[in-house]
Amino acid sequence: MRLTRTSDLWWKNAVVYCLDVETYQDGNGDGIGDFAGLTQRIDHLVRLGVTCVWLMPFYPTRERDDGYDITDFYGVDPRLGTLGDFTEFVRTARDRGIRVIADLVVNHTSEEHPWFKDARSGRDSTHRDWYVWKDQPPPDGPQGVVFPDAEDSLWEYDKGSGQYYLHRFYKQQPDLNVTHPEVRDEITRIMGFWTELGLSGFRVDAVPFLLETDGQSDAKELPDPHEYLADLRAFLGRRNGESVLLGEVNLPYDATARFFGDPSSDRGDELTMCFDFIAMQRMYLSMARHDARPLAAALRERPEPPRDAHWATFVRNHDELTLDKLSDDERAEVFASFGPDKDMQLYDRGLRRRLPPMVDGDRRRVELAYSLLFTLPGTPVLFYGEELGMGENLAAQGRQAVRTPMQWTPQKAAGFSTADPATFPNPLVDGAFSPQKINVYEQSRDPASLLSRMRLFIERYRETPELAWGDYRLLTTGQDAVLAHVCRAGDGTVLAVHNFADRPHTVRLELTDAEPGGRMTDLLDEAHTGLKADEDGMFHVDLPPYGYRWLRVGTPADDPESIVPR
Ligand code: NOJ
Ligand code: CA
Repeated sequence: MRLTRTSDLWWKNAVVYCLDVETYQDGNGDGIGDFAGLTQRIDHLVRLGVTCVWLMPFYPTRERDDGYDITDFYGVDPRLGTLGDFTEFVRTARDRGIRVIADLVVNHTSEEHPWFKDARSGRDSTHRDWYVWKDQPPPDGPQGVVFPDAEDSLWEYDKGSGQYYLHRFYKQQPDLNVTHPEVRDEITRIMGFWTELGLSGFRVDAVPFLLETDGQSDAKELPDPHEYLADLRAFLGRRNGESVLLGEVNLPYDATARFFGDPSSDRGDELTMCFDFIAMQRMYLSMARHDARPLAAALRERPEPPRDAHWATFVRNHDELTLDKLSDDERAEVFASFGPDKDMQLYDRGLRRRLPPMVDGDRRRVELAYSLLFTLPGTPVLFYGEELGMGENLAAQGRQAVRTPMQWTPQKAAGFSTADPATFPNPLVDGAFSPQKINVYEQSRDPASLLSRMRLFIERYRETPELAWGDYRLLTTGQDAVLAHVCRAGDGTVLAVHNFADRPHTVRLELTDAEPGGRMTDLLDEAHTGLKADEDGMFHVDLPPYGYRWLRVGTPADDPESIVPR
């Protein structure tokens, strides 16, 4: 296929890697990860094949919500370094071909942010209307509370000024009022600031809540929140044409797709990418049931993103693995298979576990999930440590269970820091998934390790534009446990087949444009094993338990026969 525009629309075949500076690498021995340490680890990201790092919040914070409660949108938390260290990191990453994006958390501030301190100082203070106030909270009670373990209302009474303020998350995170023009100006200033320092866009936190205007000052009502989102995207495009907005929208498909923009209007694009929360959740249901159909059904339902937008796919993110879009019974099934203890669950809707312990370390099932991640259409987003098969530490608080320090070496402190592990912001993992068993140092030297397999997945994914760019369709496999999809772009056709069952399956697949007697080449097998169609033009694909194959129709792209002079 011709690759003319692939480097412009870089997000379409990017490999995004989410990390928290605080838990990635300590560079000055104080036990806390920092930008200097992260910069030293850039080679790991390069070797893995990462093309875009997503930094979780690194701004000054009161640490009420692991950095998502920000006290200054224009700074770096001093524990993590300085603006200088930040800029050095971005510069180094870009030099190695890695773009950097960061969380944009402007639905709310910390209650310790100077704006809120001023706002609550009196009803006629300068920043009063930057937040959302009411004399009486609406009578809807705890509906819509995101952290039900800590909150029972979206409204908190502020004694000093005698009114209630809106907080979608913790009470320490008052919601900003985006209907206020000065707040909107400030948000563009924040985006402009970090773009100027080299960011290639943002992961936009809590998008539907950010745009929600219910209960906000009527006088300054936003005419249309989507128009505002389109304005933000246009602003970003004017500042830096390659920038993206990767949005957190966890809604049913149709509602989520609306955040890409309205293709029937000329208003312009909104989010460049939306996380695919639905397929993620259905993938776990498929894994629990050993049945590909729940995931297949999600893919059939999933709207095609308009214009240059794309879905972002993931196996887990940095929060609890939410299963909120499954039915109660389906969620109970996934809990029973992958997190039966109450302690493994969070907020009754998700799991605070990583995948490898959920499947008792079964490499076949772990590989199956990541093979899906890199072959299903959408931009793959990894959470640090997934490339190694890191586990969780349930002794850590809530979501912190999956935010443990990166495991670099088998040493006591995991190569994360020279300080005493007792001083780390989050405890290390112990037991079967401890740094002694799971670490970059050893896996890098072992061609059979999960890390080596992930590098291979990423290399093939990057050199197989059909996967990222192609049209795709699901094939009939005749086996409920097997998902087969075919991706086409230009004259290239690539097929991926995944067996969710714990027993082998052979599937017969029909490809409309495969010549009878034609061949397919295995993309993951260095020997490029071929597969021949039978006289009816059908391919027989053998899959071991939890097996998968990536197959190119025809010869490999680098086969001398396929390089035809133009
Ligand atoms: C979504 C983030 O992913 C989560 O970690 C955070 O708690 C909330 N937004 C609030 O910022
Ligand atoms: Ca440090």
